Amino acid sequence: MCGELVKIDAVDMTYGGHGGGSGTKAVAGLNMAVAAGEFVAVVGPSGCGKSTLMKLVTGLHIPEVGTITVAGDRVTKPISIVGMAFQNPTMLPWRTTLDNVLLPLEIVKPHRSRLRANKAEYVAKAENLLKLVGLEGFGDKFPWQLSGGMQQRANLCRALIHEPALLMLDEPFGALDAFTREELWCVIRDIHANTDVTIVLVTHDLREAVFLADRVLVMSARPGRIIVDRTVEFERPRQLDIMYERSFSNVVSELREHIAEARVKVGV
Ligand SMILES: Nc1ncnc2c1ncn2[C@@H]1O[C@H](COP(=O)(O)OP(=O)(O)OP(=O)(O)O)[C@@H](O)[C@H]1O
Ligand SMILES: [Mg+2]
Repeated sequence: MCGELVKIDAVDMTYGGHGGGSGTKAVAGLNMAVAAGEFVAVVGPSGCGKSTLMKLVTGLHIPEVGTITVAGDRVTKPISIVGMAFQNPTMLPWRTTLDNVLLPLEIVKPHRSRLRANKAEYVAKAENLLKLVGLEGFGDKFPWQLSGGMQQRANLCRALIHEPALLMLDEPFGALDAFTREELWCVIRDIHANTDVTIVLVTHDLREAVFLADRVLVMSARPGRIIVDRTVEFERPRQLDIMYERSFSNVVSELREHIAEARVKVGV
């Protein structure tokens, strides 16, 4: 651990309205700090501003109030040290799955020239990632030839291909069946354990949050802010059967109550 990688400081973000007060205030008074190497999960009622938080950190939205800092630099445009996998897989339909996974390398600067020089090495890396998520042999298929869950898995590979320092995952496992989801939890767990990557994961699944994270942050109803910061103390490496333990369900229930309270306050 070496200090904070992500810092959100007193941020407000309104969609539309052009400052006239008529827009949708998505987050207000949002503060969050994530240490380098940490795994943080963000949970909260639907529409509370979780995806907005992710877009703010990655520079896809710039806040009108407050500041966002990543790796010591104020975020004023989309940042490149990040790998993102968003709620809806956004694969380019005219590229094969393998070429979709390689896409960030064509965009992120230090990789661009290396990709040209060492194409075979990067292709092998992409194929390895596809294998890791159970998509071995699907690299030459187009996204529309894959199921929703398979596209989501490929999306995850694309987020990982450039070995980002920061991985921002917005409900990346939503469209998956329970078994595949648990398999991928273990993939993400191992990536976090074996690298220096810092991970922020948005999820509606509290078991997923507690299984994976060092800390779970609960957001209030819109306009969202962090209302609970719960450290998860289970030892690592964690195995899936930890979810059958009483202490695990206790943390899940505790978080569920916080979210229920936050939901009741919707519209107040
Ligand atoms: N591009 C946009 N334009 C206008 N309003 C938006 C836009 N994106 C989000 N909002 C509004 O901002 C609020 C927060 O949206 P956000 O997508 O951050 O919620 P969320 O917590 O990710 O929800 P979910 O759990 O359903 O994914 C919502 O009320 C939504 O209607
Ligand atoms: Mg969302």
